[in-house]
Amino acid sequence: MLLLLLFLSLPPLSAAQLCHPNDLAALLAFKNSFSNPNSSLPSWDPQFHCCNWYGVECNDTTNRVLGLDIASVDLHGTIPPSLSKLHHLQRLRLHKLPNLVGPIPPELGQLPLLGYLVISWTNISGPIPSFLTNLRSLSYLILSFNRLSGPIPPSLPSLPYLYAIDLSRNLLTGPIPESFGHFLLSTALDLSHNMLSGDIPASLGNVNFSRIKLSRNKLSGDASVLFGKDKVADTIDISRNSFEFDFSKVGFMESLDVLDISHNKIYGSIPKQITEAVYLQFLNVSYNRMCGEIPTGWKLKYRSESWDNSSFFHNRCLCGVPLDPCK
Ligand SMILES: *[C@@H]1O[C@H](CO)[C@@H](O)[C@H](O)[C@H]1NC(C)=O
Ligand SMILES: *[C@@H]1O[C@H](CO)[C@@H](O)[C@H](O)[C@H]1NC(C)=O
Ligand SMILES: *[C@@H]1O[C@H](CO)[C@@H](O)[C@H](O)[C@H]1NC(C)=O
Ligand SMILES: *[C@@H]1O[C@H](CO)[C@@H](O)[C@H](O)[C@H]1NC(C)=O
Ligand SMILES: *[C@@H]1O[C@H](CO)[C@@H](O)[C@H](O)[C@H]1NC(C)=O
Repeated sequence: MLLLLLFLSLPPLSAAQLCHPNDLAALLAFKNSFSNPNSSLPSWDPQFHCCNWYGVECNDTTNRVLGLDIASVDLHGTIPPSLSKLHHLQRLRLHKLPNLVGPIPPELGQLPLLGYLVISWTNISGPIPSFLTNLRSLSYLILSFNRLSGPIPPSLPSLPYLYAIDLSRNLLTGPIPESFGHFLLSTALDLSHNMLSGDIPASLGNVNFSRIKLSRNKLSGDASVLFGKDKVADTIDISRNSFEFDFSKVGFMESLDVLDISHNKIYGSIPKQITEAVYLQFLNVSYNRMCGEIPTGWKLKYRSESWDNSSFFHNRCLCGVPLDPCK
């Protein structure tokens, strides 16, 4: 009986006490910065442990917030600076938020442990800020499908752990920085669907890209530097640009799975060595200025049928299967 009285006299254990007060305050500030906080994040109720709120991920031991993953929610407003108060944040994903607008706030550069940053399919605008280079732990940076504009910050490759960078489907202008030839790791780079212009820097030949996509820009120059027998790319997509170089001299990596160079001004012939790219599943060299016989004797592992003529058509004088026989 005494024990029961003692128990009843204790204040009710509020689950919210499990949250670190700093994290709880930062999350509530995040929520309340939007004009429609209660309809957009109804589970974010201080009565409940914040680690159980929608999109919040905590460390099981410390209950510190490690991750925030908010997707397909009707949030109205800008990215709140209060995010920088989540000092333990390692992962942040803001995805499919059509009413998220405004620039990336400088406070986002103040998250020392952030390794994974995804802001995609939103209406954020303004530049890709160079203060992202302050995120020294960053390994994965996806800013695709937004309305970001201006040049690409040249400082990004100085991030020591960065291995995936996707800035595709924005309104970026200017050239690819020369410094993009100085990534420290084998990087996957996607800059497609922007308005980038100028010659591709020769320095890009120094990088062993695991994947590179530059399609649908206004880029020019010699993209043969991206190729090489000893490299590891699984995808090279440089389609719909103004690249101009001799294709006869490029070497193909064995790992190549997708190759799209269509709609450029590429000349020369298709090297026989391409038939050794055994994992090739998608090939398109159409709408260029190439000549000569299409190689035969493909050693494809995952594709037995012969290529469609649309992979090769609209060139100056390519011939042989699947186009007309060479004269
Ligand atoms: C959670 O915190 C503990 C104690 O600081 C740490 O040892 C552990 O690695 C952390 N776990 C994660 C997933 O970060
Ligand atoms: C940006 O806003 C427009 C107009 O509200 C909307 O149609 C579009 O879907 C939004 N974009 C994204 C990627 O959500
Ligand atoms: C690219 O990376 C692979 C695998 O790490 C390595 O074997 C190869 O030598 C590298 N090639 C170049 C040109 O750096
Ligand atoms: C491509 O093949 C299709 C069907 O086999 C044929 O109708 C078409 O004329 C060919 N086009 C060219 C440019 O060879
Ligand atoms: C190759 O690209 C051209 C131009 O975009 C397109 O018409 C054709 O269908 C594509 N072929 C294949 C096999 O992707």
